[in-house]
Amino acid sequence: MGIVLGIESSCDESAAAVVTSDGNILSNIIFSQIQDHALYGGVVPEIAARAHVDKLDHAIQEAVMQAGINFSDIDAIAVTAGPGLMGGIIVGTTYAKTIASVMRKKFIAINHLEGHALMATLTEKTLIFPYLLLLISGGHSQFVCVLEPGKYKILGQTLDDAPGEAFDKVAKLLGLGYPGGPAVESASHHGNKSAYRLPIPLEKRRDADMSFSGLKTAVLQIVRANGFNNTEDLCASFQETVACALALKVSYAIEKFSEYSINKQFVVSGGVASNLCIRDKLSQAAAKHGFQTFFPPVKLCTDNAAMIAWAGIYKLQMKAHELDFKPRARWSLEEVCYET
Ligand code: KG4
Ligand code: ZN
Repeated sequence: MGIVLGIESSCDESAAAVVTSDGNILSNIIFSQIQDHALYGGVVPEIAARAHVDKLDHAIQEAVMQAGINFSDIDAIAVTAGPGLMGGIIVGTTYAKTIASVMRKKFIAINHLEGHALMATLTEKTLIFPYLLLLISGGHSQFVCVLEPGKYKILGQTLDDAPGEAFDKVAKLLGLGYPGGPAVESASHHGNKSAYRLPIPLEKRRDADMSFSGLKTAVLQIVRANGFNNTEDLCASFQETVACALALKVSYAIEKFSEYSINKQFVVSGGVASNLCIRDKLSQAAAKHGFQTFFPPVKLCTDNAAMIAWAGIYKLQMKAHELDFKPRARWSLEEVCYET
């Protein structure tokens, strides 16, 4: 059995986790920096990097302690080496390389998106490769054919903002605080989703590409014209439109996916996959094509280190480790390679 320590510091979570090759999450520690960034209504890269320096070593020690193991029991250290905010990535990779060198452990560089992409294979035992993935987070929005660990084909992606980014910007505009997704979702519970007609982005385009920046502008125009008095209705209408825009693209993504596989399994991951309205619309759209939809549990959908450790297990099994890997701020899933 292999044991991997995972480290995640590419955005605003300082996280560490210990996961075994048979799929047991022995610990999953997340120190959120929300308090540090809330004042600014979004993540400030410099503040994030400094907070990782403060918190990441505690997260790592806590993860090893809670797992009930010693550092000597660990086979490899897996760390997010990109894409994301460079300051935080450098902090994480430096910790990981140092532990790996001093303790003579294997060092594994993980693409953050790959962590989100593979997470569901830990929790859903019936999931098989290849499967269709929709990754929706604060920085990304893409339909991916997950052929096997280390082999990914992007089937469609956002042309501008990610959906999480749109949620965060709308929340900031409406004074709902940061992070915006959960705030907009909870305001929506009391709102009327049909109150405002917002345009569904790329409605006429017959492909799996997406766009979310226009929606934010449409919300801004409504606020300018009407003021802030209908925040709950506006949140509900915005959330409904994002859900419809994503659901609309499912059939095009499935069409492309069927060029690679006859499997009918669909995974939705990333922070925005926590949204219940979006979950509902996506699983309904996929069911129309006979696809079964899987969502990792919310704690594993948003950024965490268990997903990095789990992706590390795959790379460990394929002997893909390399101490000289250089962190990458930009790193497409299609550029992931397990050959060392
Ligand atoms: O995956 P994640 O934790 O970090 C990134 O890799 O970006 O996703 C964070 C994003 C944020 O933009 C946040 O507002 C959004 O996910 N989010 C949500 C919800 N929970 C988190 N968006 C919509 N509804 C939610 N319930
Ligand atoms: Zn993420």
